[in-house]
Amino acid sequence: MTAPLIDLRSDTVTRPTPAMREAMLRAEVGDDVFGEDPMVNALEERMAALFGHEAAVFCPSGTMTNQIAIHVHTRPGDEVICEEGAHVYRYEGGGMMATSGCSVKHVAADRGRYTAEAVAAAVNDRNAAYLANSRLVVVENTTNRGGGAIWDLAEVGRIRAVCDAQDLRLHLDGARLFNAMAVDGTTPAQWGGLFHSISICLSKGLGAPAGSVLIGPSPLIHQARRVRKRLGGGMRQAGFLAAAGLYALEHHVARLPEDHRRARRIGTALSGHAHVEEVMPVVTNIVIYSLRTGHSAIDHVAALASAGVRCMAIGPRQVRMVTHLDVDDAAVDRVLERLRSMAD
Ligand SMILES: Cc1ncc(COP(=O)(O)O)c(C=O)c1O
Repeated sequence: MTAPLIDLRSDTVTRPTPAMREAMLRAEVGDDVFGEDPMVNALEERMAALFGHEAAVFCPSGTMTNQIAIHVHTRPGDEVICEEGAHVYRYEGGGMMATSGCSVKHVAADRGRYTAEAVAAAVNDRNAAYLANSRLVVVENTTNRGGGAIWDLAEVGRIRAVCDAQDLRLHLDGARLFNAMAVDGTTPAQWGGLFHSISICLSKGLGAPAGSVLIGPSPLIHQARRVRKRLGGGMRQAGFLAAAGLYALEHHVARLPEDHRRARRIGTALSGHAHVEEVMPVVTNIVIYSLRTGHSAIDHVAALASAGVRCMAIGPRQVRMVTHLDVDDAAVDRVLERLRSMAD
C-alpha cells in the first residue's frame, strides 16, 4: 500500500474532520442575503464580540474580506501603505488596484513587519495636490511571506497612533492571527482595539473548508455587506460553512501549538540539511527556507513530491512548508526521513 500524500503546500488544504462534518450536517440554515441564517448570524455575533467590535460579516474568502475592507476604507486614487510581500498586494489578483482604484506605497520591512516610523515617513504631504492621498495602512499577522513571523502588539499600537495623527485607517489581514495569539498570548480584544477593521480566516490554521470574517464598526460592516453583494459574495444558506467556522473556533484553536511544534521540528531538520542555505526562524506554522546555489526550488519540490511530500516553490531557490490539522507527528517523521535521504 502506498503511504498517503503529505500536503505541506498550505494550511488551506485541510479537509473537515468527521466531527466538523457532523456539525455542518446539523446546521440550521436560512437565507443569509436576507440576514436569516442562524449559523451565520451566530458566527458574526461571536466574532464581533470576541474582537470587541460592533459587527462582522461572513465572506467566502480572505481575499474578499481584505478587498472589501480596502474598498470601504478608500476612494479611487487613494494610496494604501503596506509591505511588498503583503498578501493584499501580491496575491489578491491586483484587487486593490482593479477593484478600488488605489495606488500602493511599500514600506521596508523585516519579515513582513515594519515600524511606526516607516509608516510616518510613507505618508504623502496632504497639501501636495500632485501626490496620491495616503488613506489606509495594512498589517498582516502572521506574515505569510515573512515565514509566519508575528507582530509586536506595542509596535502596532505605535502605528495606530501615527494613523490617528495622520487621519489614516488601519486594517489587519489576520488570516492567521490565531496562530500569532497562540504564540504571544495576546487576545482578540487587544488586536480588535487597535484596528479599524480585521479579517480573520477560518479556512487556514483553524481548518474550516472555506470562509473568512470581516470585523469592524456597524457602519463599516453595513457598507461591507453591500460591497460583498456587489462582488457576488452573498451566499444564501451559508450556515453550513458558518457551522464549520463555529466548530473550528471551539475545537481547533487550542491545538495550534501542535502545528507550531511540528513546524519547528521540520525547521530544525532543514537547518542541518546539506542542500539548505538558510531557514527563517520558525515561530508559527510556516517554514520558509532557501537552497544553496546549484539547487533549484522546482527540482527540490519535485523530488519531495515523488516521495509523497508536497510543498511549494516560492522563489528560484526558496521553498515553503506549512503544517496544519492534517499533518501529525508520523507525517513529520516521514518528511524528515525523505529530507535525510535526499541529502545522501
Ligand atoms: C496572509 C493571507 N491573507 C489572505 C489570504 C487570502 O485567503 P483566501 O485564500 O481565503 O482568499 C491568504 C491566503 O493564503 C493569506 O495567506
